[in-house]
Amino acid sequence: MFSTYFKLIKKDLFAFVFYIVLIILTVILQNISPILWGELIKNIQKGELDNFLILAGIVIASLLFSTIFQNLAYHVGSKSAVKLSQIGKTQAMEAIYNQSYEYHTSKKSGKFSVLLNKISDMIFGIYFEFFADTFSSIVGVVLVTGYLFFTAPKYGISIFIIVLLGVIPFLIAIRINIKARTEADRVKTDYLARVADGLIAFETIKSFGKEKFELKLLGKLLSLLTKNEDRYSVSFRAIDFSSGFGTALIIAVNSILLYLDFKNGALSISQFVIVMGFSFSFSTKLNHLVYGFRNIFKNTFYFKEVANLLSLKPSKYIPSFTKELPKDIGDIKVDNVDFVYSNGIEAVSNVSLSVPKYSKIALVGESGAGKSTLIKLLLRYYLPKSGVINISGVNILDISEEDLRRLIGIVPQDPVMFNDTILFNVTYGVEKENLNKEELLVIAKRACEKAKLSHFIESLPEKYDSIVGERGIKLSGGQRQRLAIARLFVRDPKVIIFDEATSQLDSESEKAIHTALNELTHEKTTLIIAHRLSTIVHCDRIYVMENGKIIEQGKHKELLELNGRYASLWKIQSEGFFVK
Ligand SMILES: Nc1ncnc2c1ncn2[C@@H]1O[C@H](COP(=O)(O)OP(=O)(O)OP(=O)(O)O)[C@@H](O)[C@H]1O
Ligand SMILES: [Mg+2]
Repeated sequence: MFSTYFKLIKKDLFAFVFYIVLIILTVILQNISPILWGELIKNIQKGELDNFLILAGIVIASLLFSTIFQNLAYHVGSKSAVKLSQIGKTQAMEAIYNQSYEYHTSKKSGKFSVLLNKISDMIFGIYFEFFADTFSSIVGVVLVTGYLFFTAPKYGISIFIIVLLGVIPFLIAIRINIKARTEADRVKTDYLARVADGLIAFETIKSFGKEKFELKLLGKLLSLLTKNEDRYSVSFRAIDFSSGFGTALIIAVNSILLYLDFKNGALSISQFVIVMGFSFSFSTKLNHLVYGFRNIFKNTFYFKEVANLLSLKPSKYIPSFTKELPKDIGDIKVDNVDFVYSNGIEAVSNVSLSVPKYSKIALVGESGAGKSTLIKLLLRYYLPKSGVINISGVNILDISEEDLRRLIGIVPQDPVMFNDTILFNVTYGVEKENLNKEELLVIAKRACEKAKLSHFIESLPEKYDSIVGERGIKLSGGQRQRLAIARLFVRDPKVIIFDEATSQLDSESEKAIHTALNELTHEKTTLIIAHRLSTIVHCDRIYVMENGKIIEQGKHKELLELNGRYASLWKIQSEGFFVK
């Protein structure tokens, strides 16, 4: 965990070291005043005025420089913390994008955004709560105790023993404190994740009228949070008490020792000033130490979670070597492919099929048969358990990710849009960078024209600048599909996959964009998944899937003659669902 943060800090090592040096200098300057005062008194007693003036000058200089160094340290520290926070956030986002498709299917977006925000808190915590408060107090304690050890060992030893004894209840209180805070933060993250989830799934909540249920659920999490936060704040009393008690004990014991020495005539006034000055300065030091620790431990949960996020290893498949694809893309061959989801569902089993160059192939079958999963294997979102998928004779495991994504375009079953303008969404796949808005508009208009979407866009008050809402919620299902088709026109990939791409269009619109789809798929290798069989009757070959397997294949006519699964599906669809 610490090594993760250290790796990050190494990216601004010079500033960090400079900051630590400044902090140590500040602590030294802040702690020499009792010694200087002691020496001053000695000089007053001796009547040595010259030395007195020099010492007074040193006192003033030490005060001045400790302020200058402290401010410089804070300036350097916060600049470096800001820089490292930015690096950390970029690193976290990069780590997330390097995760597998499977990781994304189970991650909690709400939790992730909380953690992303926490990155800068953690880095500022290391710089200020740890080094400026805790570390500097420890250095101060060590300096003072060390000095007393050599100059007045009795007092040094008494402080050392009391601090050591004081540490025990302090550590116990800290343990309780960490546990309570970690639990509170865990519940808080769950709470925030649930809030985010509720906002995303607002339509489901509304349609079921479950607002009260959701509030109740959030209320339960909140009361759990309150319980843990209460426990957390109670544990602070023990911490505060142990620090207050420690300081009082140091002053009391040292006062008795001073009194005894005084009585025996073994103590000068200057020694008295030094010991008392140091004893009193312990109050601030211990308080700083306690508050520093308190703030550090407050963040234990996030400290660990952010470290986990920053050290996330890439889990998506990256080929160890890549092969160049032939310029002219040929066929797709799926050979004996098996795939099992991590929950044990065998979604694809022993599937072999071939999609010859420029052909149109259809994949049909009941819901849950494994059609979309097969496509995900083709896109390398998941890796087959066994079997091989080749494109133009090259195993897709040997194709670079960039080549693969450029090669295959998909209109997914439920296209998701960015909460941005129509223009942004349509031109998302444009590869050329730095195109200006006019140039992008030309591309978008051409694509939307082909996808039969321009009429609708032109009717909107803001036209191509209209915002589509989260996930594209402001568009109708069919409009979203047409936008996804337009997006593909812009990209113009060599292999095109339609996963129920026109399922939400009415027959008239579907027919209208049919010509466009023909144009889009002209001289392309095309794979179509469709439930509505009438849309795929003209395909070169139709594969019928059931329970992850291919059970029939052939042309439409051949499959009807076979009188099997396909024929019965066709019969049901041509009869209609509602019979008298
Ligand atoms: N991410 C996932 N994790 C675990 N199981 C999954 C996942 N995605 C799909 N499945 C399961 O795999 C099986 C095949 O799903 P798939 O989405 O491939 O079906 P489909 O043929 O595309 O169905 P539909 O026509 O309804 O879209 C189903 O039983 C489904 O529950
Ligand atoms: Mg599907």
